[in-house]
Amino acid sequence: MTVTRTFSIIKPDATRRNLTGAVTKMLEDGGLRVVASKRIHMTKAQAEGFYAVHKDRPFFGELVDFMISEPVVVQALEGENAVLRNREIMGATNPAEAAAGTIRKTHALSIGENSVHGSDSDENAAIEIAYFFKDSEIVG
Ligand code: CMP
Repeated sequence: MTVTRTFSIIKPDATRRNLTGAVTKMLEDGGLRVVASKRIHMTKAQAEGFYAVHKDRPFFGELVDFMISEPVVVQALEGENAVLRNREIMGATNPAEAAAGTIRKTHALSIGENSVHGSDSDENAAIEIAYFFKDSEIVG
């Protein structure tokens, strides 16, 4: 059994609709443990830095504006093969393509307002967790 960590954001479309608990329950029911969590209102610089890999994509401005529009909940999650498990629980980026029972199929509004972000690799999970949390804020 390989216990690893991943990084999650409950996005503004979900916090706005008071879905923080509902989304977290789906993560927990899927076998992940919340080992760090905080509600923040991202600055523009924070969002641009976090999504820098997408800076040349046509939707970058829209993505940053959305992520700073209202509070988000950033979380570190722990579990067996956490990155993959979280991606299964979230479903496809586009909710129209997401499997039944996933967070995005259940709650997302569109490809942009898709309720959650999750890391795509162990390497990025470590970078993304460190972007928002100090080691002392993560309690396994
Ligand atoms: P996320 O996992 O947070 O990583 C990048 C985000 O860009 C992605 O989820 C989507 O919410 C967003 N995104 C991807 N494609 C599009 C698109 N075509 N239009 C708007 N946003 C997009």
